[in-house]
Amino acid sequence: MVEKVGIIVYNIHLKFSLIFLEMIYMKTIGVLTSGGDAPGMNAAVRAVVRTAISLGMNVKGIKRGYNGLIDGDIFDLDVRSVSDIIHRGGTVLFTARSPRFKEEEGMQAAVANCKKFGIDGIVVIGGDGSYRGARDLSLRGIPCVGIPGTIDNDIASTDYTLGFDTAMNTVLEMVDKLRDTCQSHDRCSVVEVMGRRAGHVALQCGIAVGATAIMVPEVESNLEEVIAKIEDTRKTGKEHFVIMVAEGVGGVEEMAKKIEEKTGIETRATILGHVQRGGNPTVRDRVRATQMGYAAVQLLSKGIGNRVIAIKNNKIVDYDIFEALNMTKPLDMEMYEIANITSI
Ligand code: ADP
Ligand code: F6P
Repeated sequence: MVEKVGIIVYNIHLKFSLIFLEMIYMKTIGVLTSGGDAPGMNAAVRAVVRTAISLGMNVKGIKRGYNGLIDGDIFDLDVRSVSDIIHRGGTVLFTARSPRFKEEEGMQAAVANCKKFGIDGIVVIGGDGSYRGARDLSLRGIPCVGIPGTIDNDIASTDYTLGFDTAMNTVLEMVDKLRDTCQSHDRCSVVEVMGRRAGHVALQCGIAVGATAIMVPEVESNLEEVIAKIEDTRKTGKEHFVIMVAEGVGGVEEMAKKIEEKTGIETRATILGHVQRGGNPTVRDRVRATQMGYAAVQLLSKGIGNRVIAIKNNKIVDYDIFEALNMTKPLDMEMYEIANITSI
């Protein structure tokens, strides 16, 4: 008799525990990449899929960012679906900028598809525009966790965004090649690099290529000062010059003309463009992507959404998505100063 009562109590306890677990834990999560593609996005997708499956969850891939969510372009992913992608640039999930998702109608269609496909939470890999989308989805009852993916490193909540290292190494390789020609012809090369409204790529790459001057949107630019620097360094024996310009400053063709006019040094402008977005991710991007994918799924598996993954002081951390979107990230002015001093 005592034994029977014990079994009944045990079964009731088990049943309630299971209901409780179902309430907390997500059965199925989705993953999407959004905004500009960035090397390391694939490594993050792989980590999301494998971590989720190891925790007993199902994973659905959502194609072309928020567009796929609106259109129901959603498919099952298993551990082998993400084989052979850790080393590849771009994103196997495709990506898009989705104006439709900024409208209430688009968001409602996305929420309806989450219900239809049984998606309980989503990992969003992208830039701060994508984070705003994740915030809006979270507000409509679909918990999201953001992973920072953009070559620009311009997401305020994190020290590092996936793709930044790979893009900078691409810039380095390209400018090293330009430098060969500059050296051979005693020329000046004015190079525009990406970064949207931020100068992080230009600053770090400017230091790494030994640029004579670096122009970033965060610091008021003055071409006269750049020309004066070229002249000063020429007096001490410098024969060729690289001027690194962030796209947020722009105008490299015009600058090249003025530099040539004023200094008499043959000058060419080069806009590196979208080569900076592609290519195999570096070790840093693959490892960080793997850690971030793992961390994002750990949160969702505990029923925690509305967060973004970040790197602070070399550690993986997470923040509330609203808090993250209100943060600011200034350019490293000490680094800018070091660049000025070491380029004389
Ligand atoms: P990134 O994520 O690289 O910053 P975008 O700014 O283009 O790129 O944003 C990517 C997508 O995120 C947009 O096309 C849109 O679908 C969504 N998004 C951007 N801003 C918002 C917003 N304010 N509200 C809702 N969704 C947004
Ligand atoms: O955000 C990444 C980025 O490559 C920026 O550096 C650049 O301003 C923008 O995207 C270019 O966008 P698109 O691919 O639409 O030309």
